[in-house]
Amino acid sequence: MSRREFLLSSPLGPATKAIHLGQHEVGLDQFPVPPLVSNSAMLLNSAEEGLEMLSNVDVENFAYQRYANPTVSILETKFRSIEQCAHSMAVNSGMTACLLVFRTLLKAGDHIIVPHSIFYEIVDQLDYEVKNRGIEISIIREYETDVFETAIRKNTKMIFIEAPTNPAFLDINIRALAKLCEKYSILLVVDNTFLSPVCQKPLSLGAVITLYSITKHINGHGDVIGGMISTNDADIFKALKHNRNNTGLILDPFSAWLTIRGLRTLPLRLQKHAENALAITRMIDEEFPELEWRGVWSTNSAKSNGIDTACHTGLIALVFPSKEAGMVFVRHLRLIRIGTTFGNIESLCYHYGGFAREATIDLEQIGIPYGLVRISVGLEDVEDIKTDMRQALHIATKMSLCDQCA
Ligand SMILES: Cc1ncc(COP(=O)(O)O)c(C=O)c1O
Repeated sequence: MSRREFLLSSPLGPATKAIHLGQHEVGLDQFPVPPLVSNSAMLLNSAEEGLEMLSNVDVENFAYQRYANPTVSILETKFRSIEQCAHSMAVNSGMTACLLVFRTLLKAGDHIIVPHSIFYEIVDQLDYEVKNRGIEISIIREYETDVFETAIRKNTKMIFIEAPTNPAFLDINIRALAKLCEKYSILLVVDNTFLSPVCQKPLSLGAVITLYSITKHINGHGDVIGGMISTNDADIFKALKHNRNNTGLILDPFSAWLTIRGLRTLPLRLQKHAENALAITRMIDEEFPELEWRGVWSTNSAKSNGIDTACHTGLIALVFPSKEAGMVFVRHLRLIRIGTTFGNIESLCYHYGGFAREATIDLEQIGIPYGLVRISVGLEDVEDIKTDMRQALHIATKMSLCDQCA
């Protein structure tokens, strides 16, 4: 059995796949570090070679970087093997992944259903689709499957969710929703950024498309903006790829190369994120029992969504009783800094009520408490994270108790 056959036929774990798969697909397996191929065009030896490449849609067309690129292909191969799906496509941001899905699969007169607490810029993007492209939208505020069913119309084409939502951890049962979507021939699209394909696999629960901001845990090092779309549906993939080819939305090779480096340690990093997040939540339970926290382990659907309790992306939400208490907490953190992102190796916090762009809208209208502070627990020594959080929590919880007394 050749190495290639072995890699493709063995039931390998995600860490092994992340490290070993991909290079052989593009004939570059002799290099343990996947090469960065930056050429805008691959030169061809003959007109026949060019014709074969252009006419064979099953072969990656490396003739021009806007269509495909070997480094990007390595990333896509690793990704789809970890997600255990047929197709993955890298694009130049998480928002681009959303745009490509909406523009390719929704036409004027189609209806989409979204929960009120999905990432706000996606709602903003959909607002453009509604105002300029004739798409109809329903935004729902409760997430039980029967609430989704009530919102379905004759022209409903897509349900787009995050499960759980970022940052409020509102819960959706993906398996039950997928069954509903199948019954009505609706495309279920899941933004799986929050959990990564290692911790949750919506396609195996019946979703048709997953998409990601690979800017977060997938790359993990805070130096790339990128996105990924995955599906098992060959026709949908073909349509999305056609539009990626024609628009130049493909991820650039250097970002792909950096993301490959990040992806190769994703399973390992997630173990440490999980270990550290667990230690932090234990500390909160023991030392600050009055403080509400939310995490993937506390959602009702974790089990039916196939989430292993050992898998955690290190994201937790602390829910202070007021916006002011949240601000005091954030102001007193020293090691943990404010970041408009998550999933990096360093711990980060983000207080929506205090300073986010969302502060201009009524957060409670989109299911986010004003006192909520998201913590992306990083990979530092856990005692250092605990020490920093403990001293800030002492001040913030004392203050919020006084608030309640007043
Ligand atoms: C859940 C979620 N989806 C999509 C995006 C958009 O991704 P990007 O910033 O890579 O465009 C983000 C960004 O924060 C996000 O948090």
